[in-house]
Amino acid sequence: MPTSAREPLLEISDLAAGYGKIGVLNGIDLTVGAGEVVALLGPNGAGKTTLLRAISGLLPWSGRVRFAGKELAGANPRDTVRAGLVHVIEGHRVFTQLTVFDNLLLAGYGLPRRRLMPQVEEALAFFPEIAAKRNDGAVTLSGGQQQMLAVAQGLVRRPRLLMLDEPSAGLSPVLVDRVLAAAGQLRDAGTAVLLVEQLIEKALLLADRVYALARGSIVLEAAGNEPDLPNRLERAYFGQVLTGEASPKARPAVPPT
Ligand SMILES: Nc1ncnc2c1ncn2[C@@H]1O[C@H](COP(=O)(O)OP(=O)(O)OP(=O)(O)O)[C@@H](O)[C@H]1O
Ligand SMILES: [Mg+2]
Repeated sequence: MPTSAREPLLEISDLAAGYGKIGVLNGIDLTVGAGEVVALLGPNGAGKTTLLRAISGLLPWSGRVRFAGKELAGANPRDTVRAGLVHVIEGHRVFTQLTVFDNLLLAGYGLPRRRLMPQVEEALAFFPEIAAKRNDGAVTLSGGQQQMLAVAQGLVRRPRLLMLDEPSAGLSPVLVDRVLAAAGQLRDAGTAVLLVEQLIEKALLLADRVYALARGSIVLEAAGNEPDLPNRLERAYFGQVLTGEASPKARPAVPPT
């Protein structure tokens, strides 16, 4: 096992998870390096959201998850946030009756005062569009700006890994680019990003590496700039496993503990 400085920030082996007796994920192996953008792609119902939920402690899982050198077995969402792992959930809604600034303060609830203000400012600095509206009600933001606010809320805790579940859902192409560009800026600032995205082409432009999940298993792992990836991904989605690509593991579903 690598124990050097090159050990991944997040290292998942043989993870299984589901809902009660319903097994969804099986034999998942996935890593994210420090400061890396990794895209998690896959068709509807593949288990992408379920995987993020398991990692962040919202769902029980079996297998092994190491984050920043620590085992996450039994960790609840509060523990994972403390460890530096922040999950912006699918369809995250901001509090429209509060101001932009108060939404960010709320996201930093529990942080020591001396860290809260600078970290709120730091999060705002990623999104000049919403920084300009800091004292306005979040209700005045466009859909895209609300999505930026949701990402900024995740940033207030200065995560080492930010997990974004379809941050571009429902946005116009221009705003999609804007939200995804923020993920690139985060990488430049040293934050790792695990990005669930339906827009394959956009995700590939940004990601250092990609995983495709289909029917609860990883069916493809590749560098973001490998040739012919959109076609390979599409084939992987629909179950044609090709030579040289990871094959789905035929393990039985392990009931979550
Ligand atoms: N709360 C739940 N209870 C039972 N089954 C669920 C629950 N949430 C999701 N599932 C099932 O788990 C499987 C994976 O769902 P998941 O939401 O993780 O997929 P996804 O890849 O995120 O899909 P999408 O692209 O539509 O967001 C699906 O078969 C889904 O029906
Ligand atoms: Mg989902």
